[in-house]
Amino acid sequence: MQNLQIRTWQIKDLEEVEKLLRQISTYTGNVKRDFFSQLYTGKVALTDGKIVGFVLYWILENEVEIHAVIVDKNYRKRSIGKALMASIIDELASLQKPFTIFLEVSEKNIPALKLYQLFGFKKVAVRKNYYKNGDNALVLMLKINPTEVKDVQRRKPEKTGQGKVPPLRNT
Ligand SMILES: CC(C)(COP(=O)(O)OP(=O)(O)OC[C@H]1O[C@@H](n2cnc3c(N)ncnc32)[C@H](O)[C@@H]1OP(=O)(O)O)[C@@H](O)C(=O)NCCC(=O)NCCS
Repeated sequence: MQNLQIRTWQIKDLEEVEKLLRQISTYTGNVKRDFFSQLYTGKVALTDGKIVGFVLYWILENEVEIHAVIVDKNYRKRSIGKALMASIIDELASLQKPFTIFLEVSEKNIPALKLYQLFGFKKVAVRKNYYKNGDNALVLMLKINPTEVKDVQRRKPEKTGQGKVPPLRNT
């Protein structure tokens, strides 16, 4: 994927973020009020200036919770999910302290499970009947220690080219 850029989201991104969220979710709340707040950090992925994905998370002391990683259905399997996850790892690594990242994912969400496994997330709990359709949620965890950051970074694809994560331009 050429011209991929990851940056912190801005209020002007709201409409595009809402559209992406509604692609995969029945959430009907107020995205601006609920997610464009000081509590959350959001990053968008843009290709040729178009928003094609986002990641939503919060950092509280030494814990990070990833709430959503969403890539536009027309742009999947082009390493954008990997680039979004890598941008969080890079940010945490730059803070030079240990972090534990948690997230929840349906045990049936194979694309997401594969993405998280690539970065070394491990299952730490199962929440039975967690979703409205009765599916179970897995709680996944990744510990990041500054002394081990090189290992985490090694898991991150580095080369440009098809199927690889391109260099990030965080702004
Ligand atoms: C999960 C999601 C974010 C992945 O985004 P993506 O940009 O397509 O992912 P990538 O192209 O970076 O692929 C990452 C890895 O996931 C795996 N993967 C991605 N899509 C896959 C699929 N449909 N089936 C199997 N594996 C898949 C691949 O193994 C890939 O690694 P590889 O390139 O080394 O083979 C995307 O599918 C999505 O938006 N899904 C809907 C929202 C969602 O369920 N989010 C997660 C919970 S909030």
